[in-house]
Amino acid sequence: MKIDILTLFPKLYEGFIEESIIGRAIQSKKAEINIYNIREYAKNKHKKVDDTPYGGGAGMILMCQPIFDAVENLRTDKTKVVLMSPQGVLYDQKLAYTLSKEEHLIFICGHYEGFDERINSIVDMEISIGDYILTGGELPSMVVTDSIVRLLPGVIDEKSHQIESFKDSLLDHSNYTKPREYKGMKVPHILLSGHHQKIEKWRQTERIIKTMEKRPDLINRRSSYYLYREIPIKKITYFNYLPEVGFDVSPKNNAKRKDVITVRHVILFNKLFIEKIVKLKIERKIKLYLKQLYELTTTDDDTEETRELINNILNYKKYLIENYVKYLSIDYSDLIMKKMQLLLNELRVQQHLKVSTPQPEKNDRVK
Ligand SMILES: C[S@@+](CC[C@H](N)C(=O)[O-])C[C@H]1O[C@@H](n2cnc3c(N)ncnc32)[C@H](O)[C@@H]1O
Repeated sequence: MKIDILTLFPKLYEGFIEESIIGRAIQSKKAEINIYNIREYAKNKHKKVDDTPYGGGAGMILMCQPIFDAVENLRTDKTKVVLMSPQGVLYDQKLAYTLSKEEHLIFICGHYEGFDERINSIVDMEISIGDYILTGGELPSMVVTDSIVRLLPGVIDEKSHQIESFKDSLLDHSNYTKPREYKGMKVPHILLSGHHQKIEKWRQTERIIKTMEKRPDLINRRSSYYLYREIPIKKITYFNYLPEVGFDVSPKNNAKRKDVITVRHVILFNKLFIEKIVKLKIERKIKLYLKQLYELTTTDDDTEETRELINNILNYKKYLIENYVKYLSIDYSDLIMKKMQLLLNELRVQQHLKVSTPQPEKNDRVK
């Protein structure tokens, strides 16, 4: 991949293209990054690249000529020209993946008050790195370049981007390193177990919980889900459909080839239908818990059963987060979590009352 950056401040890139992963990617020829000074393309005597805005107003505006000429000089049939601009599409990991597949990119960095609007006619895309204004397009171009180059084959260990944040609209799981305990904080036991399948499952759950806590908006952006009823056993299987990955299925029965699977019968349902089914299942469960709670409040010496019900609800809450929340809207998930919490609070009050109020001996009870 080749990236050409057009800037008025080439020196700003010195450390960026020499150091660390980007530096190594360039040295090992996995990426080629060229920095061009826009001023070198100015045709006027004083190499002037900007002028005052027509109609008046503050600041200077980058002129068309140097940028038109630079792009014309560098572009080929395979080039995508990108303008760094706070008015562009908001940059994200998905766009990083898309751009990392391109052969040649030209990034144009603005400065001062911005560009002559006619420069837009020669660009394929405007990219913004966030809703704030920087003094120039240099930092945005470094941000975009960095995120693309690390995705190029062989630049970093491929495994690193398989589960990193945003890969499938989830955040990365928590990580720990030595020592096992630091200032009383312990590394989760499961990570020391050596049981890879369990660790994977724990990490996947962690990703969902973390995303729900920190970025619930990402969960809602996940694309579509499908469900499939396996007729003989009447089991319902849920499929994730992720645009970058396709269907998330695990072929069983000794699949002979990795790249081809035979599907006999698949029924695809709308996401709303899945939400409806999942809601029904949850409501049914909550009704059952309510019934059990009611029964417990009307009987006496059942602290053991109260404890058991609390555990069941806690386990179900975890199960919901792991398996169902991804199919539900944020509002509905919040509502369900609140309902579960109310149930737990009520049970804990019951538990407390039962422990603190000595139960009458069986013979003392009113007959
Ligand atoms: C001071 S800004 C110009 C802002 C412009 N007057 C506006 O309000 O939209 C100068 C240049 O910095 C770059 N820039 C500033 N903020 C940016 C952002 N959030 N994303 C991408 N580029 C940005 C662009 O190249 C822009 O032309």
